[in-house]
Amino acid sequence: MRADAQAQPNIALIKYWGKRDIEQNLPATGSLSVTLDSLWTKMSVEFSDALPGDKLVVNAAASEKMLPRISACLDLVTGTDRPRASIESESNFPIAAGLASSASAFAALVVAASKAAGQDRDTLSLARIAGAASGSAARSLFGGFVELQAGDTNIDVETIAEADEWPLTVVIAVTEEGVKPVSSSEAMNRSAASSPFYSSWLEQQPADLLSARDAVLRKDFAQLAAVAEHNCLKMHSVMWGSRPPIVYWNSATLSCMEAVRHLQSEGHAVFFTIDAGPQLKAVCLPDQAELVRSALDTCAGVGRTMVSGLGAGARLLDNT
Ligand code: DP6
Repeated sequence: MRADAQAQPNIALIKYWGKRDIEQNLPATGSLSVTLDSLWTKMSVEFSDALPGDKLVVNAAASEKMLPRISACLDLVTGTDRPRASIESESNFPIAAGLASSASAFAALVVAASKAAGQDRDTLSLARIAGAASGSAARSLFGGFVELQAGDTNIDVETIAEADEWPLTVVIAVTEEGVKPVSSSEAMNRSAASSPFYSSWLEQQPADLLSARDAVLRKDFAQLAAVAEHNCLKMHSVMWGSRPPIVYWNSATLSCMEAVRHLQSEGHAVFFTIDAGPQLKAVCLPDQAELVRSALDTCAGVGRTMVSGLGAGARLLDNT
């Protein structure tokens, strides 16, 4: 009745921003991401009839805040008529700060819960459950370069290139460790309801996705860089145009962007992307990683940097 699983966060290069169905948490458009390897979340799930209610411990401290979403996700795995669960989670990176911690958490959760419940589900069915809990989590079930297609009633997710087929490096500049002011869920719903740019965002998403997929399959760094930066800046423009506006950046985010632009002007293979938080993620060829890291380390306001290659999808840990 107990199982442990691990998943890594993923970084979207073509973003998921907007829902087709809020109730079922279905994304309005497709997205494309890379799954990381050195940042991780480990989840242990144990079902027991002896427990009075579900219990969640995050990084060794009891957490009431996340519990309703975690319990709802367990219900999706097993049905509501289930024993109560004790869930323990541990991550080696800051949570809820725009580093996709909910993606790795829900991806690891569904893998552990399904095993602890004695099920034998395939990866796509687990991805659909994780996606219902948090859209980006569906992609962390898979490794390498991952494409999510948004259908009318369901999503499809698959690896389009393995991590070792094109081993890019991601350098994350952490500019603020705190919890973000507006959750991505709330922010994207506000964008859909109030941003005048939201409909163009949706219209252009299939073309961006096609271009990114093509760049990945042909390992065309320049093409991927161009479409990923464009897509990221469009997503943030949608947010800036919302009412009230949603601005996740701080001045350090902009300094990092400038540092990446400077490296690009010197001919280095690097591009940036930014999610629902002030951290900047620079994607580069592995031989550029040290240079990129030291450039971001020296930007004013950067607390620390983290470097990761690309890695595998969510999986059970050996002890289960
Ligand atoms: C900016 O997956 O956190 O990181 O489905 O509401 O939980 P919910 O949203 P979430 O949104 C991720 C937004 C993003 C872009 C992306 O990862 O594609």
